[in-house]
Amino acid sequence: MTGSYGQIGTELIEELRARYGGENVIATGRKKPPEILRKDGPYYRLDVLDNDHLHNMLVDYDIDIIIHNASVLSAVGEKNPQLAYRTNVEGAYNVLEAARILKMDQVMIPSSIAAFGPSTPKENTPNDVIMRPTTAYGVSKVFIELWGEYYVERYGVDFRSLRYPGIISSETLPGGGTTDYAVEIFYEALKNKEYTCFLAEDAMLPMMYMPDCIKSTIDLIEAKEDNLEHRSFNVTAMSFTPADIAAEIKKHIPDFEIHYEPDFRQKIAESWPRSLDDSAAREEWGWNPDYDLAAMTKDMLETLSKRLGLKY
Ligand SMILES: NC(=O)c1ccc[n+]([C@@H]2O[C@H](COP(=O)([O-])OP(=O)(O)OC[C@H]3O[C@@H](n4cnc5c(N)ncnc54)[C@H](O)[C@@H]3O)[C@@H](O)[C@H]2O)c1
Repeated sequence: MTGSYGQIGTELIEELRARYGGENVIATGRKKPPEILRKDGPYYRLDVLDNDHLHNMLVDYDIDIIIHNASVLSAVGEKNPQLAYRTNVEGAYNVLEAARILKMDQVMIPSSIAAFGPSTPKENTPNDVIMRPTTAYGVSKVFIELWGEYYVERYGVDFRSLRYPGIISSETLPGGGTTDYAVEIFYEALKNKEYTCFLAEDAMLPMMYMPDCIKSTIDLIEAKEDNLEHRSFNVTAMSFTPADIAAEIKKHIPDFEIHYEPDFRQKIAESWPRSLDDSAAREEWGWNPDYDLAAMTKDMLETLSKRLGLKY
């Protein structure tokens, strides 16, 4: 896995190692790995823009499947579009080329709801629909989906992709996206009983709790190739606004208060779907989420309060 030290990678690696054996799952990233990744299996430094190093690692360690999580996310991408281009487009190109040349078994590269744009229907957005994103991140995700699907047809590379919605998790902080507020709000609710949100109160977006994110990723990796009509899939578990999640948190912390100071991320959010139709994922590989807003909120508060030692 590339980008293993990020929000999704840290928790996905743990589950992959539990299932397939620690030695069989290699974590790679650019920095010193967090403790969680150092205990059960190998980790190496790898910058995905270092193509020679990437090829050498794939050959030396006899890698069959690459999960390419290294990415620059939406908000960071708007601050530095050139970095988003290099990391996301050139990084994915390197990975897909390596899979083609080395005849690897499978390549999983996440996409995002950011692959949709303002001209995409916003409610119950279909799997196959117009995609004209207006962020650097979104443009890079459309490239990844289309280049990956081209490699399926042209070279028989087994490329698969999930259009993750906003991912909420308790272990590793998010890496600079537009849905980060839905994680920050829990830390602030527990620490200060107050949160100032960088999106407007009615900014509805599709979301998913980390256990469902991990489940969807492993289910798609393990799906029989013959069953896949699509290669890039909408996946979702819930949709809510900042006002909705604040109301849900208030059920557990009655004196919690939310304030709104929308910044540049509000414009990004407005260009994305409000809810997703994930019927293709349900039909082709049996996708079915476990957590809705109420179940996720309860679990996040319980897990975080234990970890941070804060009662509520
Ligand atoms: N977290 C979400 O809400 C969300 C939503 C939709 C899609 N996604 C996608 O899921 C994937 C994983 O996202 P995440 O949330 O874990 O992101 P993250 O930002 O938390 O982690 C990405 C990791 O990639 C690393 N990275 C950046 N450039 C690199 C390079 N050149 N070489 C090697 N590593 C590099 C970063 O250091 C970081 O640790 C990404 O493709 C992202 O676009 C995430």
